[in-house]
Amino acid sequence: MLTEKTLEKIKQIQKNYHSKKSAVMGALMAVQRDSGNNLTREDMDAVAKILDVNPVEIHAVAGFYTMYNWKKPVGRHHIQVCWNLSCSLLGAEHLISHMEKTLGITLGETTPDSMFTLTTAECLGSCGTAPMMQIGDDYYEDLTVEKVDKILADLRARS
Ligand code: FES
Repeated sequence: MLTEKTLEKIKQIQKNYHSKKSAVMGALMAVQRDSGNNLTREDMDAVAKILDVNPVEIHAVAGFYTMYNWKKPVGRHHIQVCWNLSCSLLGAEHLISHMEKTLGITLGETTPDSMFTLTTAECLGSCGTAPMMQIGDDYYEDLTVEKVDKILADLRARS
């Protein structure tokens, strides 16, 4: 069930567009952010109703974009490591292996404390600063094992 705060956000997002349908992506992201980084089918159906859009279309949007977390719950920090060409050539796989070892999980898994989920992503449009990863809304670029360790430690300290 969407909170008043989330409903207000969706209302504000709608004001940016001429049609309700155009607000789908922003509305889904607002719901996800307000719901612990995850979307449920009920949330998506609620967005469909608010925006007067067929629920199938909402599910199609959420299914197409990797930024929506609904297939499987993710942890507080969703780490998406780009493993497309530039990032792979510059060591993405090595970084993924390192994070798997450090976090004690494999790709697609979430740490037992629900702090981190480790996944891959296709090109995130930052090839010039490869290897890189996205965590939440933030990009982390020109990564090394040392940088990754510091990022994870900082996120742990912040949580
Ligand atoms: S290949 Fe990784 S950002 Fe483009």
